[in-house]
Amino acid sequence: MAWTAQRLAAALAGRARAGGGSRTAAAVAGAACAAALGVAWCEPKRRLQKHPSEGVRQRDLIRCRGGWNELQATYDVLGAVGRGGFGRVQRARHRMTGLLRAIKTVPTGQHGEAVSSEEEWSRMLIEVEALMALTHPNIVQLHEYYRDADALYMVEEYCSGGTLEQRLQQRGGRLPPPEAAVVLRQMLRGVLCCHAHGLAHRDLKPDNFVFASRDEEASLKLIDFGLSLGPNVKSHTARCARDAPEMRT
Ligand SMILES: Nc1ncnc2c1ncn2[C@@H]1O[C@H](COP(=O)(O)OP(=O)(O)OP(=O)(O)O)[C@@H](O)[C@H]1O
Ligand SMILES: [Mg+2]
Repeated sequence: MAWTAQRLAAALAGRARAGGGSRTAAAVAGAACAAALGVAWCEPKRRLQKHPSEGVRQRDLIRCRGGWNELQATYDVLGAVGRGGFGRVQRARHRMTGLLRAIKTVPTGQHGEAVSSEEEWSRMLIEVEALMALTHPNIVQLHEYYRDADALYMVEEYCSGGTLEQRLQQRGGRLPPPEAAVVLRQMLRGVLCCHAHGLAHRDLKPDNFVFASRDEEASLKLIDFGLSLGPNVKSHTARCARDAPEMRT
């Protein structure tokens, strides 16, 4: 007998209710529906958060590992993989585990324009911590960060497959429809997850999606949350000289 998404969800919901607890039943049913339809699922509790930082308690703000010296003690910094409007991105190897990471450096000291006061720093750090809570196959994972007087260093999962922009250029500017559909679905899943957490990325473009590896089937990940916006985090994003006028409101 073929199972539709609704029938699967209804059956699971009934089973969960029998075990007691309608909230669990709804969550199980929702997750089953999402799985059957092939879309991302977020727990209702998380979806209703007003701000991505909600639920990040002060005692959880522990993932700042130090400054540049501590970073160098932990990682062997290998070389540049990219440079953008805000800073540079370098490849690095974790000295203990050998895992490859991407380290994005955002200058914040006297040479940087992104953050100028302690208040802005703390807002930015709360946003960074909130981003660390975003775990999704189509969003680059932010593992930890370092900061000192000059810069913020974000340690991310390393994606070796290049950007979507580069892939488009290699293919003469367009992808065959079946491939484009797979790419678009992954882009939307990443964006949906951000929105479910109250976070607007505000800089969606092929340059800000990278492939996890060179594999044809490699998953696509959203990067570069430098302009992202939650309801309580505005000032460091609205000061950028390259913002489009409509983003300054
Ligand atoms: N996690 C990563 N793994 C591999 N490469 C990455 C990663 N993050 C960024 N890059 C590379 O570095 C480039 C710049 O990164 P990013 O977009 O985050 O910086 P940016 O300074 O905000 O750039 P811009 O504002 O111009 O978009 C990317 O286009 C990509 O080539
Ligand atoms: Mg970018």
